[in-house]
Amino acid sequence: MDVNTQTNPPSMPRIGDKAPAFKAVTTQGEINFPDQYAGNWVILFSHPADFTPVCTSEFMTFATMEDQFAKANCKLVGLSVDGLYSHIAWLRTIKDKIVYRGMKNVEVKFPLIEDITMEVAKTYGMIQPGESTTKAVRAVFVIDPKGIIRTIIYYPLSLGRNFDELYRVLIALQTADAFSVATPADWRPGDEVIVPPAGSCGVAKERMENKQDMTCHDWFFCTKKLDKDKVLGTILKK
Ligand code: BEZ
Repeated sequence: MDVNTQTNPPSMPRIGDKAPAFKAVTTQGEINFPDQYAGNWVILFSHPADFTPVCTSEFMTFATMEDQFAKANCKLVGLSVDGLYSHIAWLRTIKDKIVYRGMKNVEVKFPLIEDITMEVAKTYGMIQPGESTTKAVRAVFVIDPKGIIRTIIYYPLSLGRNFDELYRVLIALQTADAFSVATPADWRPGDEVIVPPAGSCGVAKERMENKQDMTCHDWFFCTKKLDKDKVLGTILKK
């Protein structure tokens, strides 16, 4: 990495920031991001290049799960620094020719942004020069219905993402919001959730003496049951 990049790191969006706004051409027409997604969760993700194998496996997987994400009120938006006609040709090839792990005739219905100027990719820190100066890394931004960035995950070029994990992240964020709880390591719906830490000595004492519906491993670490049906019934569209 060059010295200048180390001393003057580029500014990148952070968790809790408003998602930087942009207008872009996509395979589904123009989009006005994030305003047109207000009221929805959205996953904005980048991939290095069209017509490459890891990216193809990712797009087939994500497109196959699009309805599952939609039920959790979440829309998907992809990006690479390729042009629109390359995107269209690649998505047509995926649908018409590629059979992979039981997936075939996969139609990518979510928008794929063309970003040949790298303007959006650079704004979102998707170009990481130590990895590539000409391709976006595999970035994932989970953005909430108010346009706030809630999770950022980056993967290198060679590593395909785990889309079950991205779905788990989405459901965990929504669960934390809906039930005012946190979610422990490896949490999945139906597992115990973490009650916010005691904010006073009185509450800490009460928690240890009168645990009510909680399991307290110590005063600062209390969990409680949260039924899977309650979680999914609250979050998922009927
Ligand atoms: C791929 O998607 O297969 C890929 C893209 C860029 C670099 C390495 C792999």
